[in-house]
This record gives sequence, C-alpha cells and structure tokens, in this order.
Amino acid sequence: MSATNPAFLADFAAMSSHGATAGGGVDRQAGTPEDHATRAWFSTWLADHGLAEAVDPAGNQFGLAELVPGAPWVLLGSHLDSQPLAGRYDGAYGVLAAAHAVVRASAEAGSGSLKPVFNLAVVNWFNEEGSRFTPSMMGSGVFTGKLALEAALATRDLAGSTVAEALGDLPASGAAPTLESIARYAEIHIEQGRLLEETGTQVGIVDKTWAAAKYQVVVDGDQSHTGSTRMPDRRDALFGAALVIAAARELTEEFESGSLHSSVSQLQVLPNSPVTIARQVVMNLDLRSPDESVLARAMDLLDKRIADAEARSRTEISLSLTHRWGLNPYQPAGVRLGRAAADALGFSHMDIMTVAGHDSTNMKDHVPTVMLFVPSVDGISHNEAEFTRDEDAVRGVELLTEVARRLVRGDALE
Ligand code: GLV
Ligand code: MN
Ligand code: MN
Repeated sequence: MSATNPAFLADFAAMSSHGATAGGGVDRQAGTPEDHATRAWFSTWLADHGLAEAVDPAGNQFGLAELVPGAPWVLLGSHLDSQPLAGRYDGAYGVLAAAHAVVRASAEAGSGSLKPVFNLAVVNWFNEEGSRFTPSMMGSGVFTGKLALEAALATRDLAGSTVAEALGDLPASGAAPTLESIARYAEIHIEQGRLLEETGTQVGIVDKTWAAAKYQVVVDGDQSHTGSTRMPDRRDALFGAALVIAAARELTEEFESGSLHSSVSQLQVLPNSPVTIARQVVMNLDLRSPDESVLARAMDLLDKRIADAEARSRTEISLSLTHRWGLNPYQPAGVRLGRAAADALGFSHMDIMTVAGHDSTNMKDHVPTVMLFVPSVDGISHNEAEFTRDEDAVRGVELLTEVARRLVRGDALE
C-alpha cells in the first residue's frame, strides 16, 4: 500500500507554477527571473514551515532545522534550476521531497519519537544544470571545493552576464553550513531513464555514476562569401563543426552498444548570417560511459577524428575539457542504508547507476551519501513531457524521510 501525501502534491503543483511553460513543463535557468521566483517561493515555504533560511556566496539556498545545537548537519537536497523548456521534476522534485523530509523528521525529533544526533537541513544547489552558466553542478562544485568561488561568480552566459550579476539580488545571508560541518548527504531524483519502469521496481538505490567528459570545441575558419568563394579556397567553420558532430556520433559505433553516449548539444556560429561562410563555431560536446576504459579510448579516438575533421575542412579545431567526473562509486555503506530504508517500508528496490550527473556526484566524494531514484515515465527528461506518477513521487518522499531519520539519529554506516 502506498501512502498519499496531498500536502506534498499541492506544494509541488504550486512550485511548478513558477516558470511554467505552455507545454506543461518549466523554464527556469539558473539566475533568471523564473529561477529567482522559484527561490522566493521556496524561501516563503521554509519560513512557513519553521526552517531558518541561509544562502551561501555561491547562491546555494539552505533551510535549517537545528535539532542538536552545534552538531554537524545531515543535508538533503537537489536543484530548482532547469534546462530551457524542461520538465517539472528534474531537480525540483528532489528539493521539495527533501524539504518535506526535513520538516517531518524534525517534528518527530521535537515530539521525542526520533532521537537526533545531527542537525537537519535542505539545500537547493545553485545552477546544477549548467545550461546558462557552464559547468553544471556549479553550486555543489563550489561547496565541495572542486570549483573556485571567484571562477564560478565570474562565469558568463552567452549574453555576457556573470553569475555574480545573476545572483545580484540574492546576497549571501544567514549562517549557511560549510562542507566541514556536513556529516551526511542524501538526494532523491527522478531516474531520467527506463530501468525502474522496465523492471517494475518502485525505487532505485544509486550505487555508481557513469563517467563523463564534457568539452568546449572551437572551430576556426575564415569568413567569406557563400556564393563567390571557390570551393577549394573555403575554410568553413560550420563544415568543420558538422564533421565533428558526425564524428562524435559515429564514435559510439566503435564500442559495444550502450557503452558510450555522445552528443554535441550547443552551437554558437559566427557571424551566423545568410550568404556568409562561418568564421567560427563554438560548441559543447559530451561523452559518457559506464566504463572508464571505454571513455578513455573514446577521448583518444575523438582527438584523432578531430584531426581528420581539421584536415578535411581546412579549419583549426581546439578541444578543451570543461568538466570531467569519474566512475567513483557511491559509498557502499550509503547504498546499504538506502536498501535497508526501502526494505523497512516494503518498497521494491534495485541498485542502479546514474547516467546523468547530480549534486550528489560532488558530495559523495566528501561525505557518506545516499542517492535515490523514483521512476520516470518512458525515461523522458530535459523535455516538457518529463513525468513521474504521483504515487511514485509520494513513495520517494516516504523513502527519503526514512533515510533522513536513519541518518539524523546517527545509524552506523557500515
Ligand atoms: C548534469 O548536469 C549532467 O550533465 O548530467
Ligand atoms: Mn537534475
Ligand atoms: Mn537536468
């Protein structure tokens, strides 16, 4: 039997009205008015539920329940920002689930039915998506020391605005926790894949992440007339880019099916004008694999194919790595705690890998971390049609709450 949770579902509907799109999704890229509106709604929600708000200099927004003054924190969270024209669930579901879990476990601590040894907090990490400002997982990257605060704040979007400007009306406030004060982290997210659905499993306990390598690719050619320039004279940056795009896709055919994903997902073309051959293309290229050796070979092969594309198009192509994460497993103790919590609630579960990156990808390298999935209908994500059934969403809140109880009372992580 699954619990119902009308309060959670009503909050989720209210939250999803911020940056809502006509197609039933949301569009609230980091630091846009839509993201700020969602953050403001969340700020009010925190106050209404008795949580103290704090914002750190990287824009991470916390809701704090101090249960044991001076003790370290159990932190639960995800992100409220989205890709352009995206779904309602990616990230936002996890922040609201965490907020509900914090309020419930804190109430149990207040009534004496739960004996906390840690404090409990929810976090909305700033700019997980990295769509407006690269790289992704920016707020948790700064929090975990993987990215310098100054570099993050100086990052510019395509229109030239910086993160510092985008955060402008949100100065740091309150006593935000720092990494040193965090004892445990947990996050729940939609799967963004089909495995739970295909296997009829209610929840996933994430045990590993696919490895990823993201690049900025710059193709330099010469601007000239599309009509009058003789074909052998051309140095067409867009042609060079097209060869790279095709090469990235064809790379996957060199490996066992399913062992390499690759995409070029963003293009800036200069001057991007009819009747003018492009002088420069800047694009974003992304390789992922559940096998580090496949990823390493793919990175090597990509270098070779880029050299071919350069020669064929008579352009210069440079590749710089902008974000890389490895296959590091989630700590087995956290996986065991997640499984035990699911067992205690009678939820069917499986260990599962995450293909997408999450803020827990950063946190797990520093503190014991539990990462949970609920099913995504048809695995659709980064699309307005992204959907998770209410009963699955509510089941996830139950599971995260049980995980929070176990973490906050200091259950041994063995
Ligand atoms: C997350 O940001 C990803 O790139 O998967
Ligand atoms: Mn996400
Ligand atoms: Mn996403």
